[in-house]
Order: sequence, then structure tokens, then C-alpha cells
Amino acid sequence: MTFRDEAFKIRSLAMQHQRFFSESIPLIASENIMSPLAMEMLTTDLGFRYAEGLPHHRYYQGNGFVDQIEDLTTDLGKRLFQSRYCDPRPISGTNANTSVIYGLMKPGDTVAAPDLAGGGHISAASFGAVGLRGLKILNYPFDPETMTIIPDEASKMIIREKPKVCLFGQSVFLFPTPLREMRDAFQEVGCRIWYDGAHVLGLIAGKKFQQPLKEGAEIITGSTHKTFPGPQRGIIIGNAEEEVWKKIQRGVFPGTISNHHLNSMAALGVTLAEELDFGEAYASAVIENSKILAETLHSEGIRILGESRGFTESHTLVADVRTNGGGRKVAEDLEKAGIIVNKNLLPGDSSKDSQNPSGIRIGTQEITRIGFSKNDVRDLGRLMSLVIKGRSEPEKIREETRSIKSNFNSVKYCYGKLEPYKYIEIFGE
Ligand SMILES: Cc1ncc(COP(=O)(O)O)c(C=O)c1O
Repeated sequence: MTFRDEAFKIRSLAMQHQRFFSESIPLIASENIMSPLAMEMLTTDLGFRYAEGLPHHRYYQGNGFVDQIEDLTTDLGKRLFQSRYCDPRPISGTNANTSVIYGLMKPGDTVAAPDLAGGGHISAASFGAVGLRGLKILNYPFDPETMTIIPDEASKMIIREKPKVCLFGQSVFLFPTPLREMRDAFQEVGCRIWYDGAHVLGLIAGKKFQQPLKEGAEIITGSTHKTFPGPQRGIIIGNAEEEVWKKIQRGVFPGTISNHHLNSMAALGVTLAEELDFGEAYASAVIENSKILAETLHSEGIRILGESRGFTESHTLVADVRTNGGGRKVAEDLEKAGIIVNKNLLPGDSSKDSQNPSGIRIGTQEITRIGFSKNDVRDLGRLMSLVIKGRSEPEKIREETRSIKSNFNSVKYCYGKLEPYKYIEIFGE
């Protein structure tokens, strides 16, 4: 193979990937699809340029339009989240988190965070970003059935251990964090409250999940490509005092990035505007669909976590499939059927089980974005249950999913109506 052949091989694989996803039903809880207008931003010259620092105080020439885009994006972020501050520069949720960690804490400080086994994210683990900063980590007690922090016990822990920062927010995020219930403990200890809203940012934007800034959080970090349907990127919003905010901004630049990927910042700006117009309707439909999918799977005899509280109040639901062959087998079978989910550790699994955990995690934000109605979701749930329970060969279901998916070819809740999987074939097939 020549180098040219290899280059075209990569292109061909990318196109095969694209076709595969265009014919599959995407249910990974941390993914989404962008609007055509936001996608267009990624292809602009902005993607080749540098801008370091803050607007109007740059180190390079040529940033006049970039400054205007960044000002607008920052302002849209503040309006959408009704916050005093917004920094749209982090290039991922993890980058937003490291910026806050560098801004707020020093090696040896203590941070309280959700347990990985309770849905916490690796950036809050000893082998993730907080560990790299040399912080001491405490985990909140949580209810394994709802994967939610137990406020009374967590309050006692906070009062006893006096962490400098209390971090909340999860990667398996079924129910709002009981922030108000822990307020007395926060006040007694005087800790900083930081909410990692990576997963639920779009639901917060749509005002259909808790509003952390109104419930005591000073800072929210997030990914902008999960329930918030924008580019792969991050954001920080907050109401902290100016001095604290400045420290966090220094954690972004020069702390953890130099350039901040200007094309995806423009895509973020576009998506913030679209969320101001369509975010509330979108977030309602996402949550409605996740409840319906949970109820359908439950009625088909599949164990869904959180039954006592109605399974979920977010985009996510979790199925315990240990009696159906385990998370790995079920996720692989669903993939063969053209339905994409991820296997997931459940509370009580050992970390050694990470390749074959007891659960699968399912999210409805992407199917909602392409227009799945309640009835479509019910049909999907019944199809999934056939695969999960081993009642039908996954390959036989594959044709059905392909045919279902062919009815969902455009992105909703945004400006413009282009098909999502159209790409520019500069060199032909
Ligand atoms: C709670 C939480 N925080 C942070 C992140 C990291 O986000 P990113 O993938 O954008 O770096 C994730 C990713 O899934 C997450 O679930």
C-alpha cells in the first residue's frame, strides 16, 4: 500500500463509520448530533487559527472576528444559563474540570466527589484529573438503587471532613443531586460548591432538570456534546466572586490549554443560540422519551434501576442485565442488531468486572434530536427487549433497525433542515 492508499483507506473507513451510524440507532448517553449550522462552523478557516488568552487581549494578530465570535458566544452562554460568568474556551468537559481544579485547589487539598461506583466520572478519581493535582478525595455515600447521593449521610461526612470543595455531578446521572438538602452542611463548612453538569447540561439549559446555580452551586462545568447538542467541547459557567472566577479562567489559559479550537467555539455559539430558541422543548422530549423507554423495558421484564422513583428524571436509564448474559454480551448483541449502547458497571460490581459488568447505560438525547416520538420509543423498547432477552437473533433485527432509522434523517430543534449524514464528497467514492 502506498501512503496515498493509506490516506484513502482512512477516508473510506471514516465513510463506512458514517454509513454504519446513519443506519444504526444511537443510544450512548454521552453523545449527540450537531445541527447543520453548527457543523458548517467546523469546516471554516477558524479551525486553522490560533487565539490565546481572552478577547481583545490576544497574543496574535488576525483575531478581530474571533474576538467578536467569542464575545457573542460568552454572552449567549450567560443568557442561556442565567449566570454572571461564562467561559466557552475549554475544549472538553475534562478540560473544563482540570481548569476548575487548577483554579480552586492546591496539592494536598481535599475534594469530596461522587464515587465511581455510584456513577462518578474518572476526572474525579485518584487516577484522573483530581489525582494528578495531588488532591485528597472523599466519596459521598450513595443509594445503589437510584445512584443518588444520600443527603443526610453526605452532610455528616462534609461536616466531619471539611473538604475545601464539594464536587457533584455524574456520568450515570438518573436523578437530580439533593443540593438543597445539604445546604446547611455547606454553610457550616464554608466549602466551594462545584457541579459537573457534563451529562445534563442540555437538560439544565432547557430548565427541565435541577438549576444548580439557584440551588447553591457557584460553578458549573460541562461537556457541550451530550444532552447539550453541540460540538465536542466544554464550558464553564458560574456566579462565583470575581477573584475566584479569574483564578478559574487562569486555569483554562495558560493553565491547561493554549489555543481553544476556534471553529468548535463558533459551533458552540451557534448551538447556544439554538438552545435559547429550542432547548426547553428539546429537554422535555428527551426526558419524556427516557421515561417511556424505561417503562417499556421494565414492562418487558427487564430490570431497570430506580423503579421506586420512576426509573429516571434525566436522559439516562440503566438496565441491570446480569440475568440476560451480562452487560458485555447484551451490548454486543444490541450492536449486531444496529442499536448502540454501552456496557456499564453497576453499584456492587467490582472494578475488575469493567469488561463484563452487570449493566448497560442507555440515553435518549440523540434519538430525540432526530425526531423519535413516544410511539417510536415504545417500538424501539420492544425491539431491544427481544435482543436483550435472547428471543430473536440480533442479525434478524438488524434489517428492522435499518428500516426504522431511514425515517429519521434530519436534525430537529435547530435552524436549517439538512440531513445529518450528508458529507461533502470532494474526491468521490
Ligand atoms: C460527569 C462527567 N464529567 C466530565 C466528563 C468529561 O467530558 P469530556 O468527554 O467532554 O472530556 C464526562 C464524560 O463523560 C462526564 O460524564
